[in-house]
Amino acid sequence: MFDWQNLEQVCMQCTKCGLCETRNNVVFGVGLREADVMFIGEGPGEQEDLKGEPFVGPAGKLLDDMMSIIDLNRKNSYIANIVKCRPPRNRDPLETEQDACIDYLRNQVALIKPKIIVCLGRIAAMRLIRPDFRITREHGTWTERNGIWITAIYHPSALLRDVTKRPETFDDLLSIREKIRETGAKV
Ligand code: URA
Ligand code: SF4
Repeated sequence: MFDWQNLEQVCMQCTKCGLCETRNNVVFGVGLREADVMFIGEGPGEQEDLKGEPFVGPAGKLLDDMMSIIDLNRKNSYIANIVKCRPPRNRDPLETEQDACIDYLRNQVALIKPKIIVCLGRIAAMRLIRPDFRITREHGTWTERNGIWITAIYHPSALLRDVTKRPETFDDLLSIREKIRETGAKV
């Protein structure tokens, strides 16, 4: 377990998996380090890799809009990914790459101590909730783990591809707002 300074320093120089060979930037995370609400995506895309910040491409614009519906933003929450370096051509991160990277995220969670974690899409949900998590059937459901409430919603990229999923996601956002109220999470 590292403190923020050491964690960021180690992560920025990491060569623990093959993704280090093709990355331009490590995408460590962004937001409030004392946040009560965390959003976790799967891994950086092209824009994120170029800028070193999560969710700054088209999916990120939609994520900002989704968050703003329930008064969240990049200043009052924390946003990170399962893997910190971009998988080539945006393929899913391999199990081995996730295994190599996950301790950075666990360290971030340990430092932040959020009340609520929102997985964005199935990759994060399968990693953080259950290996057999079914996003289609189980999005918007809640699990409590070590005192943290955790849920998953559709990935904003999926919502860009398929707008018919948006109404369900709106309901899921309202459920997150309700959980924020229930837990007294500060936003
Ligand atoms: N998709 C993700 O899962 N993470 C990002 O940071 C950007 C797009
Ligand atoms: Fe290290 Fe994670 Fe990047 Fe792999 S993806 S090189 S484990 S920071």
